[in-house]
Amino acid sequence: TKQSSSARSDIRNCTTSPPFLPPTVTDTSAQLNALRQRMQFYNISAYIIPATDAHMSEYIAERDARLAWISGFTGSAGTGVVTTKKAALWTDSRYWTQAERQMDCNWELQKIVWTDSIGEWLLQEIPADENIGLDPFLFSIDLWNSYAHVLQGSSRTLVPIEDNLVDLVWGSQRPPLPTSEIYLLPETFTGSTWQEKVSGIRSQMEQHSRSPTAVLLSALEETAWLFNLRGDDILYNPVFYSYALLTTSDISLFVDRNRLSAEALQSLSALCPGPLCVQVEEYNQVRASVQAYAQGDVRVWIGTEYTTYGLYGVIPQDKLVESSYSPVMTTKAVKNTKEQVLLKAAHVRDAVAMIQYLLWLEKNVPKGSVDEFSGARYVDKLRREKEHCRGASFETISASGLNAALAHYSPSNVSSRKLSVDEMYLLDSGGQYLCVWPGLIFVLPRSVPTKTALTMSRNRQTMVVTLSRLPPGWRVVEAFARQALWKVGLNYGHGTGHGIGNFLSVHEWPVGFQSNNVPLVKGMFTSIEPGYYQEGEFGIRIEDVALVVEAQTKAYLTFEVVSLVPYDRNLIDISFLSEDQYLNTYYETIHQRVGPELQRRQLEEEYEWLRRNTQPFSRGTLVATSLGTLAITSLVSTLLPDRQT
Ligand SMILES: *[C@@H]1O[C@H](CO)[C@@H](O)[C@H](O)[C@H]1NC(C)=O
Ligand SMILES: *[C@@H]1O[C@H](CO)[C@@H](O)[C@H](O)[C@H]1NC(C)=O
Ligand SMILES: *[C@@H]1O[C@H](CO)[C@@H](O)[C@H](O)[C@H]1NC(C)=O
Repeated sequence: TKQSSSARSDIRNCTTSPPFLPPTVTDTSAQLNALRQRMQFYNISAYIIPATDAHMSEYIAERDARLAWISGFTGSAGTGVVTTKKAALWTDSRYWTQAERQMDCNWELQKIVWTDSIGEWLLQEIPADENIGLDPFLFSIDLWNSYAHVLQGSSRTLVPIEDNLVDLVWGSQRPPLPTSEIYLLPETFTGSTWQEKVSGIRSQMEQHSRSPTAVLLSALEETAWLFNLRGDDILYNPVFYSYALLTTSDISLFVDRNRLSAEALQSLSALCPGPLCVQVEEYNQVRASVQAYAQGDVRVWIGTEYTTYGLYGVIPQDKLVESSYSPVMTTKAVKNTKEQVLLKAAHVRDAVAMIQYLLWLEKNVPKGSVDEFSGARYVDKLRREKEHCRGASFETISASGLNAALAHYSPSNVSSRKLSVDEMYLLDSGGQYLCVWPGLIFVLPRSVPTKTALTMSRNRQTMVVTLSRLPPGWRVVEAFARQALWKVGLNYGHGTGHGIGNFLSVHEWPVGFQSNNVPLVKGMFTSIEPGYYQEGEFGIRIEDVALVVEAQTKAYLTFEVVSLVPYDRNLIDISFLSEDQYLNTYYETIHQRVGPELQRRQLEEEYEWLRRNTQPFSRGTLVATSLGTLAITSLVSTLLPDRQT
């Protein structure tokens, strides 16, 4: 089934005449014409359109999907630039193929990903003495400054335009503001009251060398976490549009008051008046309120990654206390004991759903009755039935064969590939539980069609397993994780880990392994997700969720894996593994924790499946490959965390 790139019918081809456009492409000519008229009116030669919202959210509501509306590209990361003649989109390698499937030939895809490439492109495309427009509420300070830096001294000016030009063109077609209820998360799911959290942040303010008098919160997860409130403004993300200004004596929450449940209002005002009384102000008053506050003898602490240029601009420079992340972001990243317990318990329920799905696939894929879309719907349903589950935590990635090479592909009811026992299948799905959020990714192992493909897939998969156990030494974890692939000249185009929210976001910053992440400490949760993608052929990824814990040798930290689904045995070639205990210990844990739950639910067949799939590997076992050859392998599992310390 290997397809040569010239024959691919799933991506656009702008070099043929007429251009070849697959049905997944959006015609953007009308939108672009209308935008260019507005640009002329505002006297700008280029307009920059990000994929984020005014809170720097990674996942956004439909009404903020401006880049998708103007370009057709729906990936979660990207930047568009429209000039009078051209339109260009920058996105990272995860999304290149998706962009070629969704954009028409009005748009060029820019695959250069270094930060300054947009600025450099603008220098080339825009004549001197002309203006480049952007919405100051959609760019973080850091990003704004990076553009300004490249353009400095070039006589091209960055012009903040407070009317969003895409919104003006979108007009009445733009989805409306949400009106759904904002509700209180009971203390049984949070482990600390919002008053305790506020007091904790205030003591961090006191201890700070510059004694900030206020913290400004712009990220939606920050306000949701701080006040123990949740909403549903963004699909899969239980947050609501809001800002907060927390001072040493007052608390302002900027939100649509009418949306707060009676219980939520009661909780916020229970201790009024006083330092633990929350004043509710209108959402769009935030700029004026911050500006008024900043007139006084004050110092406002902001996280530069999440504060927009539009808000930053109203605080005088000498009154700013800047760090990359606000104290709320960094405090939220460390889960309390209750949250840890809840997260682990949710992983048991989630494992039940996954095992039900795997068994169902084993029965139904050989009949040819499952496609990517129906599979995704079924796994979502199984999960939704579980206790405290509030549905999926992100759009289910259900990708078969060559689609799995797109690290973030989701099927639709118009394009969905049939699952086959001859192809790799990549499922990346997770649940929002009223307490936690396990994200689970694994590969359904099937045999692959040709001998070469088989050998290759098995080897790569094994490397991936090896990589999923990482030693401490946080700053270098990325390099450790990629070492086995680097040795053979391969790599993957996404980070190896990200933090996990407590009934919040599937990707919770600033936890992760990259240079812009904070150091790991005890109590943080992170994913560990090495992968390998062979474009046009297949893709594999393993994603475990792990809790950072103290190692037996104190002073060291290590990981406790909390995901409880066994890897596919067919794809593990144990001769590649270098430690002989890790997998067996892990499988025993899975069996001990998930087995009783399956029995309690009388899922006998699933229990039997679990028993089979968590059998220990043993040194010297004869392993039958699907080619029918026998290979004597020695059991070597991955790095035991404690050995590293
Ligand atoms: C586009 O079509 C041209 C001419 O048929 C072909 O040479 C080229 O390989 C195609 N490109 C892609 C990406 O399919
Ligand atoms: C448009 O912007 C340029 C560059 O700043 C300026 O020279 C010109 O006068 C402006 N034109 C109008 C009509 O405002
Ligand atoms: C496919 O999905 C779209 C969007 O969710 C929906 O409007 C449409 O009715 C669906 N079509 C079929 C055939 O199910």
